[in-house]
Amino acid sequence: VLTDYGISPTHGFLPEVLPLTRLPDPYYNKWEAVAANLQALILSKRLRGVVDRLPVLSTIGLEHDAEWRRAYSLLSFMAHGYIWSGDSPSDRLPPAIAVPLLKVSQHLEVPPVATYAAVCLWNFKPLFMDEDIDNLENLASLNTFTGSIDESWFYLVSVAMEARGAPTIALMLIAIAAARENDAATVTRCLNSFAERVDDLTALLQRMHESCDPTIFYNRIRPFLAGSKNMAEAGLPHGVIYEDGSGTETYRQYAGGSNAQSSLIQFFDVVLGIEHRPTGEKRGRTDESEREGHAPAPKHNFIMEMRRYMPGPHARFLGDVQAVANIRDFVESNRTNRPLCIAYDACLSMLRNLRDKHIAIVTRYIVVPSREVRARSRSRSPEVARRKVNLATASRQPQGIAYDARGAAAAKQESDKHKQNNLKGTGGTALISFLKQARDETGEPAVEEW
Ligand code: HEM
Ligand code: ALA
Repeated sequence: VLTDYGISPTHGFLPEVLPLTRLPDPYYNKWEAVAANLQALILSKRLRGVVDRLPVLSTIGLEHDAEWRRAYSLLSFMAHGYIWSGDSPSDRLPPAIAVPLLKVSQHLEVPPVATYAAVCLWNFKPLFMDEDIDNLENLASLNTFTGSIDESWFYLVSVAMEARGAPTIALMLIAIAAARENDAATVTRCLNSFAERVDDLTALLQRMHESCDPTIFYNRIRPFLAGSKNMAEAGLPHGVIYEDGSGTETYRQYAGGSNAQSSLIQFFDVVLGIEHRPTGEKRGRTDESEREGHAPAPKHNFIMEMRRYMPGPHARFLGDVQAVANIRDFVESNRTNRPLCIAYDACLSMLRNLRDKHIAIVTRYIVVPSREVRARSRSRSPEVARRKVNLATASRQPQGIAYDARGAAAAKQESDKHKQNNLKGTGGTALISFLKQARDETGEPAVEEW
């Protein structure tokens, strides 16, 4: 049953019990007070001082899962605020955050960082209790780093998508059961409504543009979502030490928050039999980066890795569904059934379209603003500018701006190309090439083309 995996029949991967707006036990008032003033404390650069003076609170006062989830969300916002709000990032998290965050994360089976669950799944409230949460006009975010409309909207688009997508879970489990029974008519019906739902989700995704400004996203919001893995150029060469008082603390490294941690989208892939290969690995095609003469990216299955950043039960659900997913095989063995094949192909093409629209968003929200930052930084002092660029782009190894005898124009072009290639998502991927591969893999099982 879905509830065994912490999945709600109505809300999907969003919690059945709505996120708490506050921890009920007054013992936690100090956490609530920091979170309530997070934006002001970040703005005034006083967050670290305040957190350093906080007592180390125990998790003993947390009862229901909703309370644990609230605690996790609060502590992850505090942690990322602490790390990223100073003039340079902090490579240590003090005991007041580290100790309870490690406990809470263990309890909820999530990593001790701001994951998609911390900022989206467990961080919203409906404005009107009698209205649905798949309606963007009925949602508010609980915690934010910046207090901006843009940041809330960025999270809420995902929340609305999760809610709108929720019914597809039961729907596609019915399809799997029907395929097992050889009931092609039911499978076809399910696939057709699934394709329509995915199209709805794309429409929601497109609403990102309405209230999230790309420049604000890139410069103000995104830096807080960064992780501690491959962040040397942003000033975290080793990662972060969680001061848990054990005396055996070592540097830890985690990927930053990313929607790639959404179980819903991975569920779509699993149920349709779409396989994502390690980054850079293509089937029967020349790797674009190889064609351009670059070394192939290290083989690394980012999408699978992201399952470790999902709440444990959700990740287990994906694994278990994967074990029974039969729709693709069913369609393959019923290739003469045109309505079935067309329905299956419609699902693939809708999901591919979602990924296409998402790539356009990434271009507008990351690639373009990163160019603007670089252009601006070139006219400033190179040293200061370089640090700023690095923090904003979270890129792996920019070489600064290479002026040399070839002349500024050539150097600029070279350096732009280099930086472009090094631009990284908060999850740590090479953005566009990764996303294009994921999109292309979405089209691959297309039955019509066989
Ligand atoms: C992956 C950016 C909104 C779903 C990614 C990645 C980036 C990115 C850079 C690559 C992974 C990484 O390194 O982090 C953005 C930006 C957004 C946005 C800039 C909005 C301003 C969304 C939303 C969804 C979403 C609302 C909701 C479905 C995904 C998924 C992946 C992903 C599923 C994994 C790759 C895939 O399955 O194709 N995103 N994203 N993104 N994003 Fe987004
Ligand atoms: N994963 C998104 C990014 O890289 C949030 O900005």
